[in-house]
Amino acid sequence: MLVLGIETSCDETGIALYDSERGLRAHALYSQIELHAEYGGVVPELASRDHVRKILPLIRRVLDEAQIQRREIEGVAYTAGPGLMGALLVGAAVGRSLAWAWDVPAVGVHHMEGHLLAPMLEDNPPAFPFVALLVSGGHTQLVQVEGVGKYQLLGDSLDDAVGEAFDKAAKMMGLGYPGGPRIAALALQGNPERFTFPRPMVDRPGLDFSFSGLKTFTLNTLQKHIQGNQSQDEQTKADVALAFEQAVVDTLAIKCKRALTQTGLQRLVIAGGVSANTRLREKLQVMTAGLGAEVFYPRLEFCTDNGAMIAFAGCQRLLGGQREDLGFGAMPRWELENLQAV
Ligand code: KG4
Ligand code: ZN
Repeated sequence: MLVLGIETSCDETGIALYDSERGLRAHALYSQIELHAEYGGVVPELASRDHVRKILPLIRRVLDEAQIQRREIEGVAYTAGPGLMGALLVGAAVGRSLAWAWDVPAVGVHHMEGHLLAPMLEDNPPAFPFVALLVSGGHTQLVQVEGVGKYQLLGDSLDDAVGEAFDKAAKMMGLGYPGGPRIAALALQGNPERFTFPRPMVDRPGLDFSFSGLKTFTLNTLQKHIQGNQSQDEQTKADVALAFEQAVVDTLAIKCKRALTQTGLQRLVIAGGVSANTRLREKLQVMTAGLGAEVFYPRLEFCTDNGAMIAFAGCQRLLGGQREDLGFGAMPRWELENLQAV
């Protein structure tokens, strides 16, 4: 089955064509990062307007690249939530309308299900069941995955999501948006001996996360050590970036290990924007090897938002027989556990 996937939940317009027989046929992404950079974060109205401008040209480009005619498309998948309402509605309206015009089924996909299944686009896909660590700008979740749509939440963030914590810490250091990659780059110059940050909630039982205390700790450390001397301050920021990143990575690894032990599962999937973090990937590789388990993640470009993961997840749902009526909607809030099993 050949499915067109559309992602517009936040600040990336992602379009892809996935074929259940032949794999990913083509994909394209337009990132709005520069548009939002001067505001230090995503401005929802600007995001929606830019999706309106970019979505149809990107769809045409993907069809041309794959040399696919419209009549060959057998289904349309679009992100229906969670995300920014206006942005979601652009993808939903276009996706549902194209499906109607082409007389093929449409399906609204849960954005985090897209992330969670993204490692299945790779050559060595994880088999079910597995534990998934979902780490993005809006989510920090540990999920037990038995199959498509069979998700049990093991742990969740009590406050800031991990990507959000990266973004806020970066803002404190004047690094700009998005913060994750910038902190990771600056941390490479950091001195590991200088600061040690707390690992939040690791001494308590359970699999929930809290990163807001780490954010405050970061701010306090910066206020105490930034002196007004440019070169010393640059080094201090690098040292703080490293201490922050190490604390986040260690905390995530400790909880992932706990989740694998608790469930007795042997496979760990990491997905979402923060799974692009090299230090996190390396740490989880070592941790899982120590347990005799395996870790899976998407290629770098599919860690952050993209159309391929939506085309793939939508294809699984359409193949499983899920169909929607002609109405469409978007859900800015939507629990992963409420999804229909396939
Ligand atoms: O999944 P995503 O593209 O969008 C959401 O669904 O939220 O994730 C974006 C988040 C941002 O907070 C960004 O700072 C973070 O992922 N991120 C990273 C890295 N690359 C992106 N965080 C840490 N290290 C990275 N290399
Ligand atoms: Zn995302």
